[in-house]
Amino acid sequence: MKAGDMIVTSSIPELRQWRWQQPAASYGFVPTMGYLHEGHLSLARRARAENEFVVVSIYVNPTQFAPTEDLSSYPRDLERDLALLRGEGVDLVFAPDDALMYPPGFQTYVTVEQATQGLEGASRPMHFRGVTTVVAKLFNLVQPTRAYFGQKDYQQSVVVRQMVADLNFNLEVVVCPTVREADGLAMSSRNKYLTPPQRQAATVLSRTLRHGLVLLDEGERNGRTLRAAMQGMIEAEPLARLDYISVAHPITLQELEQVGDQAVLSTAVFIGKTRLIDNMLWQVREA
Ligand code: PAJ
Repeated sequence: MKAGDMIVTSSIPELRQWRWQQPAASYGFVPTMGYLHEGHLSLARRARAENEFVVVSIYVNPTQFAPTEDLSSYPRDLERDLALLRGEGVDLVFAPDDALMYPPGFQTYVTVEQATQGLEGASRPMHFRGVTTVVAKLFNLVQPTRAYFGQKDYQQSVVVRQMVADLNFNLEVVVCPTVREADGLAMSSRNKYLTPPQRQAATVLSRTLRHGLVLLDEGERNGRTLRAAMQGMIEAEPLARLDYISVAHPITLQELEQVGDQAVLSTAVFIGKTRLIDNMLWQVREA
């Protein structure tokens, strides 16, 4: 393979051999489930800027999907993904299969306890157990210097940080801003499921969260009032069905009765059968 070519492998020995050819170099790692969009690519770009080598994994991890969820229909397009990653100067793509990640007899899971209780964890029991298990395995395989996650999945970034601290993974977690479509919709592989009217209705998530930020800027600090105002906006959209709306502390993810200097506003909404999530951080402005 000539220099500059991107290595694509599903082999653990090949990944390890490549990784340890230059043991002291810096490695940036971006775990993904593929069907890449600008949000994923922004992470690869940041990793490219901050590390000598960049690894991206593409793996639709079955343990983070509930039996009722969209594992079998989750969109996939490996060839397109690889072309996009070549364009970002990625050095190695690790694309394992289920037999490699979860061979018969597999029985060890990683569980983060408190940070997984609310929000996505409450709506999707076992989801984060699957995420932390696969991310721990990928961290052990790649042994990156830095790992890049999107704010789009805010609770995931908090849960991964907690796991990294608790289990002494020797790496830095970098959280990057949510990349949005021009009308505010957070980019997601699942946006592909939306029909044109649903796609239009889906802007209700970002519109609602932005309204929450405005209320906070105007001085509203009551958590219940903020949640009620945002809930009302989601319920006003006929194609949307609210799963949860949250005003929580950005570090503990505890729901706030009274907002102090900072908060994370999050929501999960069904548009038809498609479940979308979004969040925005708020910080008090210096007077
Ligand atoms: P996936 O949904 O493919 O997302 C991979 C990474 O891209 C995550 O860190 C996610 O937060 C980030 N991302 C997704 N949409 C984004 C957007 N619009 N802007 C910025 N970043 C965005 O998250 C997962 O996969 C999986 O749970 C995984 C961590 C790979 C474990 O299986």
